[in-house]
Amino acid sequence: MSLDSPSTNQSSLEQVSSNQRLLKESKQHAYFVTGTDTEVGKTFVSCALLAACHDAGLSTAAYKPVSAGCDVTQAGLRNEDALALQQASNTALSYDEVNPIAFAEPIAPHLACAKLMTKGQGAPIELDAITKGYAALSEKKSDVLLVEGAGGWRLPLGQNSQGHEQFLSDFAVGQKLPVILVVGMRLGCINHALLTAQAIEQDGLNIAGWVANILEPEMPFLDENIQSLEHLLHAPLIARVPRAPSPSAVKECVNLSLLGLEKA
Ligand SMILES: Nc1ncnc2c1ncn2[C@@H]1O[C@H](COP(=O)(O)OP(=O)(O)OP(=O)(O)O)[C@@H](O)[C@H]1O
Ligand SMILES: [Mg+2]
Repeated sequence: MSLDSPSTNQSSLEQVSSNQRLLKESKQHAYFVTGTDTEVGKTFVSCALLAACHDAGLSTAAYKPVSAGCDVTQAGLRNEDALALQQASNTALSYDEVNPIAFAEPIAPHLACAKLMTKGQGAPIELDAITKGYAALSEKKSDVLLVEGAGGWRLPLGQNSQGHEQFLSDFAVGQKLPVILVVGMRLGCINHALLTAQAIEQDGLNIAGWVANILEPEMPFLDENIQSLEHLLHAPLIARVPRAPSPSAVKECVNLSLLGLEKA
């Protein structure tokens, strides 16, 4: 990403037409949803997107490959995000299909994993397992498949059983997934958004679109911050999401056509 590209609006338009071309070329539209940080609204926005797709007559499925912070239930570990995504998908999915790797403790997943292993429990996180779970969901052939990351873009997964250092971004890169970037609108978000976009682009992936999630409606210069990001990010703004009681209350804010997703 360079900050002196000829016209950022032009590059956003190019991204929209690339989104539309991809729509025509492939049957399933899969996206990796990342954010400028943890707790910026990745799950909230993903559920709104799934609801918007449902209303547009598209079949949907969602994947939360790695979660940390779960309730211990009789059925097993249950994570809030994964449950919300499971419920927002209109394809029937088991919990384990949506969230194959779960840790009880609400800490960085690689640390939760290491802590279990020092107690002689669990096993290293394997990128291959994440890829297999994704392939199984992909087989459902939903029109749209959303993958919610965890934390921000460069989430460490720790070393696999071969001693290879892994990141969740490696999975998105391996699958060549277009990325949807959720920007939590608050002071400092421009720097976080630009650094995240730079890392995604340096990893060779496209940002299919970004979302301005208005966490703090009273943020000073909110409009100017959004305009700056529109100017500096090489991707279309697909939704400006206000604070709302539920994701379905903001589903109409999502401009699916900018992602190349049209009504079925
Ligand atoms: N636009 C919004 N309106 C109202 N509440 C919101 C909005 N966006 C996010 N929230 C709330 O903020 C909190 C954090 O959002 P969310 O869980 O979607 O973030 P996240 O990026 O998915 O976090 P994590 O990194 O834990 O996965 C949640 O309680 C969510 O309901
Ligand atoms: Mg989440």
